Amino acid sequence: MTLPNGITIRSATADDDAAMARLADTAFGMRSPSRTQAPAARVFAIEDALVAVDGGRVVGATKAARMTLTVPGERAVEACGIAGVCVAPTHRRRGILRAMYTEQHRRTEADGLALTIFTVSQGTIYGRFGYGPTVRENAVSIDRRFAEFRPSAPDPGGVELATLAEVTDQVRAIYDRWRRIVPGAQARPAARWALLFAEPAEVRGGGTDLFTLLHPDGYALYRYRRSDNVNTAELVEMRAVTPDAHAALWRALLGLELVQRVDAVLSDNDPLPYLLTDLRLVRTTARYDALWLRLMDIPAALTARTYQRDLDVVLAVTDPFRDAGGSFALTIRDGIAECTPTTSQADIELGIDVLASMYLGAYPARAFATANRLQAKDSAKARAIDEAFATDRDAVLGWFF
Ligand SMILES: CC(C)(COP(=O)(O)OP(=O)(O)OC[C@H]1O[C@@H](n2cnc3c(N)ncnc32)[C@H](O)[C@@H]1OP(=O)(O)O)[C@@H](O)C(=O)NCCC(=O)NCCS
Repeated sequence: MTLPNGITIRSATADDDAAMARLADTAFGMRSPSRTQAPAARVFAIEDALVAVDGGRVVGATKAARMTLTVPGERAVEACGIAGVCVAPTHRRRGILRAMYTEQHRRTEADGLALTIFTVSQGTIYGRFGYGPTVRENAVSIDRRFAEFRPSAPDPGGVELATLAEVTDQVRAIYDRWRRIVPGAQARPAARWALLFAEPAEVRGGGTDLFTLLHPDGYALYRYRRSDNVNTAELVEMRAVTPDAHAALWRALLGLELVQRVDAVLSDNDPLPYLLTDLRLVRTTARYDALWLRLMDIPAALTARTYQRDLDVVLAVTDPFRDAGGSFALTIRDGIAECTPTTSQADIELGIDVLASMYLGAYPARAFATANRLQAKDSAKARAIDEAFATDRDAVLGWFF
């Protein structure tokens, strides 16, 4: 595909690898640790990437890989994960991102994938392409010295100190059990495990290598960091399949006597604050979106997940980017949805980006209704869709890409 300004969009080849790496490092302002991996061992195969070329030079790139994503109801959906979208600072705002995205989404549609997912760098760009934020994270900092568990908090034990290299199989198996039940979590490919276990210096940020706490149903990977005379344990990843594993791992982490602070990332309803005598100790320092999503095929996507209540509603969905929108009759019985195109009058009108935000349950319909981004014919329908899309488990991003 060639744009009127002479820039060509085409599939990448192995010959583009060095130019793509230079472009991505320039655009993101960092040396990516995945560069240290051989091309064949990367999550994103070079043949699945697109480049924008101007006079023989690579001036834009996007990468894509198929990912298995868990959606509400412990259902697995094949999705396209997009990453590394970048345009050279010399070529910004000439429509290169739009052209690469048009081609990427044409391919995703041809592959028959119902969803695309993406971890975005700026909040203002991707709504126009039908994306909405769909997983929320809270960075927290806990002054460990004052953290006490309530007398009623479970104290199941079962945590042992482990050396990561010796327990990689257990860690991988626990992650796989965890990701199958958590909306937003993806299966983790071998290449991404290799990167986590290899721990290149770029990802340590001056901290130690990873320490491991292991429970039969969970694990915590953390590193120590010391700055301004404060000893911090930075939790890099905790995956707990059961509430007991969660409580036991937190008891071990908050038992690190010589650590002053524990930094972690929690989902909105993580039970940690409820286990402590002073919930204010779990101090939120930042709150942000961790994953964005787009529905490529609305009936396929809406019938892939389960729901919390019965519903009969006609949705009119606008899609400013592709033609996935239209009117759809959504009928839910006992959690299972049927969704078909219809000519009936709409009960609810919304953008495809709003539907994307509601999809994993983290962003409620009622907030979009209040903001006039979802218009309901009557308030009962608005309440019903809000309740139907809610989930009993927070969405969590499995691994960043
Ligand atoms: C973000 C980036 C990819 C945009 O590329 P680009 O080729 O300049 O974008 P385009 O010219 O195709 O713009 C596409 C649309 O997005 C809009 N847009 C682009 N960058 C924007 C920004 N920073 N804020 C708001 N809107 C933006 C454009 O106005 C345009 O809108 P329209 O097509 O509806 O008129 C590029 O600036 C970049 O590489 N930035 C650094 C790396 C980065 O942030 N990558 C994104 C990773 S998630």
